[in-house]
Amino acid sequence: MRKVKNITAATGPTPRRTARRRLDLLRRWPVWRSLLVLFAAAALWSSCRMDPVIQDQIDKLPPEDAAGPSAEHRAGQPCVLCHSTYEAAEPEMAIGGTIYAQDLNTLQLAPVEGVFVTIYDSNGASQKACTNSAGNFYLETSDWPDAAFPLTIRVGNRFMRSLIGRERSCAGCHTLATPSRVANDPTVDASTGQSRDSAGAVLVDPDNIPPEERCGKIQVGSPGTGGAAASGTGGADAGGAAATGGAPGTGGAAATGGAPGTGGSGGAGATGGGQAATGGTGGTP
Ligand code: HEC
Ligand code: HEC
Repeated sequence: MRKVKNITAATGPTPRRTARRRLDLLRRWPVWRSLLVLFAAAALWSSCRMDPVIQDQIDKLPPEDAAGPSAEHRAGQPCVLCHSTYEAAEPEMAIGGTIYAQDLNTLQLAPVEGVFVTIYDSNGASQKACTNSAGNFYLETSDWPDAAFPLTIRVGNRFMRSLIGRERSCAGCHTLATPSRVANDPTVDASTGQSRDSAGAVLVDPDNIPPEERCGKIQVGSPGTGGAAASGTGGADAGGAAATGGAPGTGGAAATGGAPGTGGSGGAGATGGGQAATGGTGGTP
């Protein structure tokens, strides 16, 4: 204690004077000041691990669920964009995605709980992951550090025919229908999200899942949980019966209602669903 006090007393005035002199220099040469600011900004920039391509994809995702991060959050979104060395969300994932069923009457999607997703790697190894109440599943990197790409996939009674070369998020290819996708690309199926350049949501037939592919009771969530079905079909010509919100509490990440205005009567506002469930503004016919 005493020692510290002494040192401060002895050296106190000198640094203060130096600091003042430095300040004077800065005031006299404003160019220096701006240069310093530039250097500081550059140092900050390079200290972040910025990958503009990945960052742009992350920035475009719907906001976090109202309930906050959990194994059920951000259903339908590309999990491994964030659960990776880049964004460092825990746990780091080898693979992750969301499984849905489509109601053939309403065409709405709903998450499927209790189905195994089987991933086969090119060394003949395979692992299974079980979907939760949001339809989400994932394998942690530590579960399967040496998964050899390309991979093949089975969900329930469905096999993906093509191979996965390197993409670790199902939603990297299986993108849901969002109002902007529907509005900008006429080939997008407003329910499944399938289009010229997307496989759409990963769908299974919940009534047709072999017993050995079940991990518990198969349960189809209510539409809107997990945000899939809650993404409006508003805008475009259909006008929207958009954005029926999810069940209170869960999901609804992608639940943005119909895009304003082209179609008939725009989507009725979705409440109920996730936090982002803002309904479409009414379209003028
Ligand atoms: C936009 C980034 C992002 C996306 C996309 C994302 N997550 Fe997360 N996730 C996070 C963050 C952030 C956390 C909080 C933990 C942390 O900060 O490390 C988290 C936490 C989790 C947790 C841990 C929860 C807990 O209670 O510890 C699980 C499990 C999880 N996410 C699963 C998923 C699944 C499955 C998907 C895809 C359907 C997904 N996440 C998509 C960012 C994301
Ligand atoms: C590289 C892009 C890509 C990735 C990543 C991907 N898929 Fe696919 N998937 C496709 C395409 C394209 C099809 C349609 C043609 C086919 O069956 O191969 C498809 C079809 C499927 C089917 C068959 C659907 C049906 O109607 O029978 C299932 C099941 C499936 N995928 C599950 C998954 C799961 C689960 C994941 C994540 C672990 C995943 N896919 C990741 C591109 C991808």
